[in-house]
Amino acid sequence: MKFFLDTANLEEIRAGAEFGLVDGVTTNPSLIAKEGRPMHEHIRAICDIVDGDISAEVVSTTAREMILEGRSLARIHPNVVVKCPLIPEGIKATRALSSEGVRVNVTLCFTPVQALLAAKAGAYIISPFIGRLDDIAASGMDLIRHIVQIYRNYGYPTKVLAASIRGPLHVLEVGLAGAHIATMPYKVFQSLFKHPLTDKGLAAFLADYQKVFQETTVG
Ligand code: G3P
Repeated sequence: MKFFLDTANLEEIRAGAEFGLVDGVTTNPSLIAKEGRPMHEHIRAICDIVDGDISAEVVSTTAREMILEGRSLARIHPNVVVKCPLIPEGIKATRALSSEGVRVNVTLCFTPVQALLAAKAGAYIISPFIGRLDDIAASGMDLIRHIVQIYRNYGYPTKVLAASIRGPLHVLEVGLAGAHIATMPYKVFQSLFKHPLTDKGLAAFLADYQKVFQETTVG
């Protein structure tokens, strides 16, 4: 299972990359806007930190413009994956860009049949938003399960990227459901390490050791 960071913040991306566990980065216009730097320049900086798929989203809404914008984003770096929204024009753009060899991540997916459209259009990645569905009392996890099942039934190569992840339980559940990738905010990535019994157990081990040897293993 691949882990992507869902952030455009370079400090967070650098900190995550230090673990060697970050396989890619997803951005969206809101995340890029938070950093206040032009999209191309900022995406290039992210590509310099993480050697993996880096999603950069188009901000136009007609297929013609999305195709032009997508080509331009794809030229930033070979690792760039162009994100197109799951609207009819976005699906047309996905079809066109994919047929030119540009890898497309279709975003803002909220139903399994939308995911089917993206796969049929040749999307490299589909991004179902689980947290935003949970927020309105629908099941984000059912969405992941249904997409994984439909793609398996027909052998679509499109990768399922669980997006809009809110916590470690989401990461567990999308893994069980068979998502290929989980993209998560940096604070969720950090939370994956944590368990109170790990901290308590380590404190006890070190205290027991020091009672007898009065030294640490360092130096
Ligand atoms: O980048 C897409 C998605 O992961 C956004 O998540 O937390 O804004 O619903 P969120």
